Amino acid sequence: MSSHARPGGHEEAETPQEISRRQWMGNATIAISGVIGLTLAIPIVGSLIPDVGAGGATWTPLDENGWTQLQAATDTPVHIDINLKSKDAYLPEQSSPQSVWGIKVKDPLKFMRDRSDLFGPDGKDLLPYPIVNMGFVLFSPICPHLGCYYQWQGAQNRFLCPCHGSTYDPNGALTHGPAARGLDPLPLREATGVAQCEWIRYAPTIPDRLVISYTA
Ligand code: FES
Repeated sequence: MSSHARPGGHEEAETPQEISRRQWMGNATIAISGVIGLTLAIPIVGSLIPDVGAGGATWTPLDENGWTQLQAATDTPVHIDINLKSKDAYLPEQSSPQSVWGIKVKDPLKFMRDRSDLFGPDGKDLLPYPIVNMGFVLFSPICPHLGCYYQWQGAQNRFLCPCHGSTYDPNGALTHGPAARGLDPLPLREATGVAQCEWIRYAPTIPDRLVISYTA
């Protein structure tokens, strides 16, 4: 049994009521600390996951030649340059040359079958933007395994990542790992006659598409 000092210096055993009150206080302190920790943790974790449409991503024009090539494309994916601009609060605006891959979707039902990771059973897009727009799909050029830049290999009719050998069919479906998902589609739109895309970086290695950044 526990004991504690009484006035006069005597050690006295605690009564069962005192022990249970002390244990209750200890448990209450742990519970309150947990709530405070959770309250702090949620905004921190949340801040790591930018919201599409919440102002993080910006529309970037597609290179005009690339867009014209994509419109004329048949079965071959088209590599399209973009000039990605980013602005940090304390630095001048930065430009970084990037690119996206575009495909023409001739058979939307086949595309939906091939890319069942992107559509629900009712055919709805699983991403918060249209995956096929104006008959085209744009893909991030970044391999969803660990972030290398993959290339189109016409002879094999596959996108191939040189780093660890992941391959993707012409619709971006994963055909060989170690990547855990197919290629990541990006938002596409046409505004005032100019085709534009939004740059989104999704978390590597996992099957789900979790936004981690809107910068290169
Ligand atoms: S980064 Fe592409 S397969 Fe590993």
